[in-house]
Amino acid sequence: MRIIIVNGPNLNLLGKREPSVYGSQTFEDYFSMLQARFPEVTLTCFQSNIEGEIIDKIHETGFSYDGIILNAAAYTHTSVGIGDAVKGIETPVVEVHISNVYQRESFRHTSYIAPHVKGIIAGFGMQSYELAIRSFMKG
Ligand code: DQA
Repeated sequence: MRIIIVNGPNLNLLGKREPSVYGSQTFEDYFSMLQARFPEVTLTCFQSNIEGEIIDKIHETGFSYDGIILNAAAYTHTSVGIGDAVKGIETPVVEVHISNVYQRESFRHTSYIAPHVKGIIAGFGMQSYELAIRSFMKG
């Protein structure tokens, strides 16, 4: 099974950025742990702060991978383009957020991606990514 984690803007700063909201672990450390935990999954990850690069990665993987775990970060709440990309591919997408966006500012309650995804996992810290992997394994 091939799964890719696609992380959007500012998620390269995990570990340093607002640790009270996002925790103090770097994504690189967490990702190594995930790979070790799911040896049966070919797990890759991609991060970009650039909207078009995220769209390109969704196109590139969206007809061949078994799953995309997408944390589009701030673009979740603004990007019609990423929403359209998710709508246009065949690979199922799970939307993930580290924080519970519904406990936060109201602008974070809107997602342009949510109508096109298999499901949404939010609020479990970094563990949200692991739960998303498990959702593909059960499916
Ligand atoms: C986030 C939530 C977004 O609202 C925010 O812009 C992020 C991270 C999360 O994982 O909790 O950058 O997607």
